[in-house]
Amino acid sequence: MKKIIITIDGYSSCGKSTLAKQLAAKLNYLYIDSGAMYRAITLYFIQQRVDWADTYQVKTALESIQLEFVYNQLTGQSDMYLNEENVEPMIREMVVAEKVSEVAAVREVREFAVAQQQQMGAAKGIVMDGRDIGTVVFPHAELKIFMTADPAVRVQRRFKELYAKNPNISLHEVKENLELRDYIDSNRAVSPLRKADDAIILDNSNLTMDEQLDLVSQWVEDAIMAHSS
Ligand code: CDP
Ligand code: CDP
Repeated sequence: MKKIIITIDGYSSCGKSTLAKQLAAKLNYLYIDSGAMYRAITLYFIQQRVDWADTYQVKTALESIQLEFVYNQLTGQSDMYLNEENVEPMIREMVVAEKVSEVAAVREVREFAVAQQQQMGAAKGIVMDGRDIGTVVFPHAELKIFMTADPAVRVQRRFKELYAKNPNISLHEVKENLELRDYIDSNRAVSPLRKADDAIILDNSNLTMDEQLDLVSQWVEDAIMAHSS
């Protein structure tokens, strides 16, 4: 069967990566979490005290960053490696979440990440989620999904996830972070979060994970059929 590129963009914590992983497993496609790349770059900038308002410092720092996704046999997922170190748990922490949207708004950072993402998609059979995948990274993707969900639902979902790892986290903190990131991501000058004109909107506020997969599986079939001739 013909393999396609599937892009999933949208607001924070609406379930993009959950859907992307479901689809990749079902279709035997490669899943790329583009947000993990921005999170890893942010971690490096924090650790090395790089001032991301300083273009020279940013360019120099990017020359020292090597990003790689490495398959983890235990979890069945790909982990983000930064300069050969597995940074998977660290990049999900609040210290990174608090700064990642600022770092991801820097033009040189985006050029660095997008070039690598486009290379990864050179072979079809890929699901990539993020903010600019259908608009900038793969504007010619065969299936583009723009995900959204009620903000209160998204806050609850992310809070539940983070609270399981750190019971000191507050709902208020999570809410503020989501609102701030959505604001910066939607309003930055370079590649803001936008629905691509040809993207299908998926509001999963009231959908279970199984329901969202069933719905989107039909869209995948349709997209493959439409691009098979
Ligand atoms: O999973 P969550 O919604 O928390 O975010 P993520 O996908 O891990 O992305 C973290 C941050 O990276 C976003 O808030 C954006 O600032 C940035 N990002 C981006 O600018 N472009 C992408 N393609 C992916 C993420
Ligand atoms: O990638 P993104 O930030 O958009 O969200 P995610 O990490 O895939 O999902 C955030 C949380 O929402 C996860 O804990 C998912 O299990 C949960 N989720 C849900 O409860 N119902 C859905 N239909 C989709 C995701």
